[in-house]
Amino acid sequence: MTGLSTNAIHAADHLKRVPDVIPPINVSTTFRYSSNPDELVKAADNKENIDDTPIYSRLAHPGSNSVEALLGPIVKGHSVVYNSGLSAFFAALTLFNPRTIAIGKGYHGCHGIVDIFKRNQGLVQIGLDDDFSVLQKGDIVHLETPVNPDGTYFDISYYAEKAHKYGALLMVDSTFAPPPLQDPFQHGADIVMHSATKYFGGHSDLLAGVLVTQDREIKNQLLNDRVFLGSNIGNLESALLIRSLKTLELRVLQQSRSATRIVEYLSQNIGQFPDLVEIVHGSLQKDSYIATQVTAHTPVFSIKVKSEDFAKRLPSKLNFFEHATSLGGVESLIEWRALSDATVAPDILRISIGIENSDDLLNDLIQALSQ
Ligand SMILES: Cc1ncc(COP(=O)(O)O)c(C=O)c1O
Repeated sequence: MTGLSTNAIHAADHLKRVPDVIPPINVSTTFRYSSNPDELVKAADNKENIDDTPIYSRLAHPGSNSVEALLGPIVKGHSVVYNSGLSAFFAALTLFNPRTIAIGKGYHGCHGIVDIFKRNQGLVQIGLDDDFSVLQKGDIVHLETPVNPDGTYFDISYYAEKAHKYGALLMVDSTFAPPPLQDPFQHGADIVMHSATKYFGGHSDLLAGVLVTQDREIKNQLLNDRVFLGSNIGNLESALLIRSLKTLELRVLQQSRSATRIVEYLSQNIGQFPDLVEIVHGSLQKDSYIATQVTAHTPVFSIKVKSEDFAKRLPSKLNFFEHATSLGGVESLIEWRALSDATVAPDILRISIGIENSDDLLNDLIQALSQ
């Protein structure tokens, strides 16, 4: 079996349509039908193979096909790519159409979509710690791990067992721990989602999302729904994502190493920084399941500081961290999180470690926290 970076570079080689080493950016929205009348297949009869022959780019296009072929062996399943992480989550709720969803802490945008389904379809929402006996076959347990904005973990196996006992599906949002950090399928997940805008994209220059299933039939249903939801990834974004996937493993492992080292230093020397109250990160969490669930820690963590005022001012004291929302890019980001998520306390900052030299990042944090 070939390794992650080999797959990320070569798993779509068979789909290359020209000899170029880098596939051209394909801007066509429509593709000529075969000139052989015997080969004409009605789109409606071609559902099983929607991804094989490009017809119209809302259905599939060479870029989206290549992204899905590249992602397959990386995410260990059949992948369906979308034009954002939230499009992927919306598509999952549309296909599975649960009557009840169990959802806990996590990205506020997913909660926003749940609210839309509650308003329009009467979806019932319960919490992850609630009694799951109200769940029925086809319902969904949605687990974000590592979770926003802290980068701490939930036990996937525990929630898989709790969901499966009542016939519900476990969906894991693994955005904060892309391959090779975590494989939720190994711990009982039925469907995995990623905001590919984050680590898969890695350069803060594309929006995309992905759903992964190990069931080919579910992949086909998702592809069919996507045609009518109109949420396939764009041509240009798919070209950017193909470029990004080649360095996924290199980037993520370095980001993880740097974040873990920075968190270790700050937590061991917290006494040096009078305005720093707490560092929260998966590497500081003690639960025993973590050793088997992740191979290395997420590059995102949060810090709690003494006051809202200090939280607002800290980003402007840093040289190598942009004050911006999002995460997963090669450049380090810090965000006074209350700006984009009203549910987060005003003394919390979220930090996403990029691929800069880790000494430089650590020294920058030390100087800013010491001011
Ligand atoms: C954990 C998580 N899931 C989903 C999303 C939504 O992704 P997108 O912005 O690509 O729609 C985000 C975005 O920040 C996220 O952090």
